[in-house]
Amino acid sequence: MKMNHEAHIYYEEEEQTFHLQNDFFSYIFKVDFNGKLIQLYYGKKVTHRSSFNYLLEQSSRPMSPVLSEQHPFYSYDNLKQELPEYGRSDFRKAGIKVLQENGSEITDLVYQSHRIFKGKNILEGLPASYAENINECISLAITLKDELLQLEVILNYTVFADHSALARSTCIVNYGQEELLLTRLMSLNLDLPDKEYDWMQLSGAWGRERHFVTKVLDYGVVEISSNRGHSSHNHNPFVTLKRKTTTEFQGEAIGAMFVYSGNFLIQAEVDAYDVTRLQMGMNPESFSWLLEPGQSFQSPEVLLVYSNKGLNQMSQTYHNLLNSRVVRGKWRHKPRPIVLNNWEATYFDFNEEKLLSIVEKGKKAGVELFVLDDGWFGQRNNDYTGLGDWVENKEKLPEGLTGLAKKVNDLGMAFGLWIEPEMINKDSDLYRNHPEWLLHTPGRKASPGRQQYVLNFANEEVVTYLFNKISNLLSSANITYIKWDMNRSISEAFDGNRSSKQQGEVHHRYILGVYQLYEQLTNMFPEVLFESCASGGGRFDAGMLYYAPQAWTSDNSDAIDRLSIQYGTSLAYPLSSIGAHVSIVPNHQVNRLTSLNTRGNVAYFGAFGYELDLNRLSMEEFTEVKKQIAFVKEYRALLQYGNFYRLASPFEGNIISWMVVSQDKKQTIVGYYKKLNEVNVSFKRVRLLGLEPTIKYQLKGTSQKFHGDELMNIGLLTTDASSGQFQPSLGFDESVDFDSRIFILEAVE
Ligand code: DGJ
Repeated sequence: MKMNHEAHIYYEEEEQTFHLQNDFFSYIFKVDFNGKLIQLYYGKKVTHRSSFNYLLEQSSRPMSPVLSEQHPFYSYDNLKQELPEYGRSDFRKAGIKVLQENGSEITDLVYQSHRIFKGKNILEGLPASYAENINECISLAITLKDELLQLEVILNYTVFADHSALARSTCIVNYGQEELLLTRLMSLNLDLPDKEYDWMQLSGAWGRERHFVTKVLDYGVVEISSNRGHSSHNHNPFVTLKRKTTTEFQGEAIGAMFVYSGNFLIQAEVDAYDVTRLQMGMNPESFSWLLEPGQSFQSPEVLLVYSNKGLNQMSQTYHNLLNSRVVRGKWRHKPRPIVLNNWEATYFDFNEEKLLSIVEKGKKAGVELFVLDDGWFGQRNNDYTGLGDWVENKEKLPEGLTGLAKKVNDLGMAFGLWIEPEMINKDSDLYRNHPEWLLHTPGRKASPGRQQYVLNFANEEVVTYLFNKISNLLSSANITYIKWDMNRSISEAFDGNRSSKQQGEVHHRYILGVYQLYEQLTNMFPEVLFESCASGGGRFDAGMLYYAPQAWTSDNSDAIDRLSIQYGTSLAYPLSSIGAHVSIVPNHQVNRLTSLNTRGNVAYFGAFGYELDLNRLSMEEFTEVKKQIAFVKEYRALLQYGNFYRLASPFEGNIISWMVVSQDKKQTIVGYYKKLNEVNVSFKRVRLLGLEPTIKYQLKGTSQKFHGDELMNIGLLTTDASSGQFQPSLGFDESVDFDSRIFILEAVE
C-alpha cells in the first residue's frame, strides 16, 4: 500500500518526553520526576525538538496539596495529565478508580517502561481501528505500575500516517494478591490549556437522532452519557470541541469518537484555571469490573481527530478512517446494493404471494436486494409474540426461507433478512424453554419495552445458542444481507451466574456478547452485508461499524426530517454507513407529503433503498423510481464514498445543501433542498468546495460550463421560482414547499 504521509513517535530519553506526530498533528507528553505522565500539547503539528519542558506549567495555588514538603510548588491539581488518579492531589474528574479490599480507592501509578512499534495491536474481543500494513501507523505502549497493589496499567496510542487521527485505549493487569474492583476507567483523558471551546454533541431521541447541539464550555462540567445499554438515540458516543470562530471550513476542531456500542460517558470539565479536561469512557454509573489476581481488563478505544480546517475536515477524516480502518471485510469500500425493505410496505401483514409481488415490481424497477423485515418467524403477527423463535412461520412462508430466498433469487434479486437476536417475547417457545435467559434482577419485575424483554447476552450459553440458531438460518437459505435490529433499552441488568461483586460488569459483558456473536457470524459468513439497527439509529456508532458497515439511520423516513438526521450523522459517520430509504407519502412518522423527487434526492446521499410497496405507485411515479435507481447505479460510488461537504445547515436555515466530490475532482453532485417555500425572496447561490479551480465543469442536462474557481468563489446559481425567477428553460420549475434539486457537474476540459 502506498503511504502518502509519515507517522512518528519520538522519545527523548533525557527529558523522558514523547512526541507523537504525523503531518497533521502533534501530541506531546512527558514523564515527570515523580513518574507521572504530564500532557504538554495536542494540536497542529509542530517541529520536533529535544525538550518541550517549557510547557510544564506549574504554580503554587492556595488549597492544593502538593507532591511533598520538598516540592511545595508541584501539584497535580494544576498539571495536565494523561491518566489522572482519584483522591490524590488532582481534584478534577479522575481517569481511573480502583477499589481495594481495605476500601481505599487511592492508587499511585508510576511510569515503568514503554515500547514503540510499527503497526497496531488488536483489542481482543472489542471493535477497534486496525492496520493492514505495519508501515501505515506507529504505536506506543506505556506501562505504569502501582507498587503497593502490583497493578499495571498500559496506555496504548497509535498514530496513523495518512489520517489526522490518534487511537487510544487502556489495559489493566492485576499482578497483586488482592481482589480489585475497577470502578472508573476513561479511555481518554485530554487536558487542554484553555477553555475557549464550544462543545458539540449529536443528540435527539427516537425519530430525531443526531441533531447538532452546541454548548459553550465554561467553569464546571458538561457531559452526555448513556445508561441504556446501547449507545442510544439520545446521545451519540461522539463529541467535538471547536473554537468559537471555527466554522465548517476553517478553524480548529477536535473530535473524540468512542469505538463502543454500550453505556458511555463523555465529560468536559473546565477547572478554575481554565484548563479543559475532556474524558471519554464506559459510563462509571453502570460499570465496574472485578479484577482478581492475574486478571486483566481492556478498555474500548477512542479515536481522536484533530482538524485545523473546520468541522468539515474533521468529518472527512472520520469518514476516511472509518471507511478504511474500522469497517472490515468484503463490503469495505464497496458500493452498497439498492435495497427494497418490506417493513413500511406491509408491517406484519404479509404472505409469500404479497412479498413476491413486491419483489417482482422491485426487480422491474432495478432494485438489487429484497429485505424481509420483522414478522417472518414464530407466531410473530404483532409485537407481543415470537421474538426468540427464529423459525419460519409456515403459514406466511409455506416454503420457508429457503423457498422464498430461491424465488427472490429466481426473480433476479438478492435476499436479505431481519433479525433481532438479543430480544425475547414472553410468548415464545424460547422463553417457555429458557425463562432463566431473560435479563432480570431476582425478586424484581422485569420491565417490558415494546412488549419485549432482553436476553442475557452476558451469558456465554445464550450467545452460543443464538450463534447456532442464526448460523443455521444463514446456511439454510441464500441470505446475503442481515438487518440486525434491537428495539428497546436495557433495564434490570443482572447476571445470576455472577457474584455480587461482578454485577457492575453485566452491561459491558452484554455488549461483549453482542460483539462476539457479530464476530462469529461475520467470520463464518464473510459475504453477508450486515446492517445494524436499534429502532432506527439507537446504536449508530463506530463499534457497530466494525462488524456492520452500514446502519439504519432512523425510523423516521420523512425526507425533510431526514435532512437534519443525515446532516447531523455526517458530522462523524460516512455516507456509506447511512442507511437511507425512500418511503411512501403521507409519511408514516410525520404524515408529511413530499415529492418522490425530494425523497429520492435526500436518500441518494447514503446507502440507498426503498421502504414501500412499489405496486402502490402510479405509472408516472414508477417511471420516476426507475430513473432514481438508474441514477444511483451510475453514481453510487461517488455518492457513498466521495468527499462530502456540508454547505448549508438544516439547523440554521430554510435552505439545506451538501455535496460529494470524486477523488479525482472530476465529478461532483450537489444536493439542494428547501424546507418551506418563500415568496419574492433574494437570488440564491451556493458556493461549492473541493473542486479543481481550473477545470471546467459542465452542469449536466444543460450546456452551461463553469470553472471550478467560479463554482467555489462565485457559487452555483440555485435561484428558483420563489425569487420570481420562474425559468423552465433553466430547469427551475414552479417552486413549492419541500422542493429540492440535484446538480451534477462533470469535468469537460
Ligand atoms: C425497528 C426498525 O428500525 C424498523 O426498521 C423495523 O425493522 C422494525 N423495528 C421492525 O420491528
